[in-house]
Amino acid sequence: MKLLVTGGAGFIGSNYIRYVLSAHPDYHVLNLDKLTYAGNLENLSDMEGRSQYTFIKGDICDRTVLDGLDFDAIVHFAAESHVDRSILDAAPFLETNIAGTYNLLETARKRKCTFVHVSTDEVYGSTEDGFFTEQSPLQPNSPYAASKASSDMFVRAYVETYGLRAMITRCSNNYGQYQFPEKLIPLAIINALNNRPVPVYGDGMNVRDWIYVEDHCRAVDTVLHKGEAGAVYNIGSRNERPNIEVVRSLLRKVALHLGRNENDLMHLISYVRDRAGHDRRYAIDPSGIEQRLGWKPQMSFEEGILKTVDWYISNKQWWQRIISGEYIKYYDAQYGERLRK
Ligand code: NAD
Ligand code: DAU
Repeated sequence: MKLLVTGGAGFIGSNYIRYVLSAHPDYHVLNLDKLTYAGNLENLSDMEGRSQYTFIKGDICDRTVLDGLDFDAIVHFAAESHVDRSILDAAPFLETNIAGTYNLLETARKRKCTFVHVSTDEVYGSTEDGFFTEQSPLQPNSPYAASKASSDMFVRAYVETYGLRAMITRCSNNYGQYQFPEKLIPLAIINALNNRPVPVYGDGMNVRDWIYVEDHCRAVDTVLHKGEAGAVYNIGSRNERPNIEVVRSLLRKVALHLGRNENDLMHLISYVRDRAGHDRRYAIDPSGIEQRLGWKPQMSFEEGILKTVDWYISNKQWWQRIISGEYIKYYDAQYGERLRK
């Protein structure tokens, strides 16, 4: 099978490509990525030179790039992915997440190829109690979530109108190796290693439902092979945690590594102004994909977090190049500042 993976130089996309090429060594993967500030070819340096892997620098909004490529299925990760950035400027989110997805859908329609649309639990909005199921209403609250919900609706329309074999996955918060240090978990680890304040929004009691990135990648691959056209699959691993608890747990692990007193590192916690429209709680019910496709998460939160902290400790060069600005091309002053403080 020839797979077109979009956004493969980002966090989840790069982990997915590594997973696919180890699970299906006979596949060929085309990685189409624009290399925005979040795209980094170092995430896939171990794939370079492999005959089963080809990188193409290109924008999913550019139909001419897509027309020149040969593939059997699309797994679509490319997106503007950071909620805070969407609050500052939603324009690139509309462009890539909506118009870019439309372009890919048109390509898939013409070629009659399978399309896996990697979406997010954020399209459901926030829930005080209970869990998001695939039947929950879409109530996106951030411009990022609204752009993802909009692209989900286009995917649905292409299934209904043109009979496209497309599936939508809605996953909860991922963590693991190669996550860009604007997101909570890598930001907290890196700031703690650098003895810098760790910003916690609001009262720190917002709840996120965490999943190890490799479990997500395996789920996407399961959907590609076994998914039913038009189906939506929620992906999560029943790991709800208030943000402050996640941060404390990370600080404890970093303290252990540095041989420092835990309480010294707890002083780094810095409560800052809340995110506008900050969703209070996400909680995914993954029983649909478990029962229908036989997927199950394998990584516990404790073990996954330990692996992640270890990875950031062992791969300082990777993130130091990012936060020093050597690698950042489009990183704006506000975000650069926040990482450095
Ligand atoms: P990321 O920001 O780390 O990576 C996004 C990648 O897309 C980058 O390599 C970037 O260069 C590329 N890209 C952006 N615009 C592009 C364009 N116009 N053309 C081609 N490439 C482009 O994101 P991530 O965290 O890896 O998320 C990947 C996908 O998974 C996104 O669709 C996101 O909505 C979804 N998702 C993420 C999470 C999470 O917790 N990170 C959870 C659920 C779903
Ligand atoms: O739920 C899936 C979503 O998870 C994905 O669709 C998004 O692409 C991904 O970015 C992520 O969104 P979040 O906004 O939940 O992730 P983030 O890491 O930005 O924030 C996690 C929580 O931590 C959130 O409640 C905000 C809070 N936070 C975040 C940052 C960056 C802080 O308290 N301090 C911070 O510095």
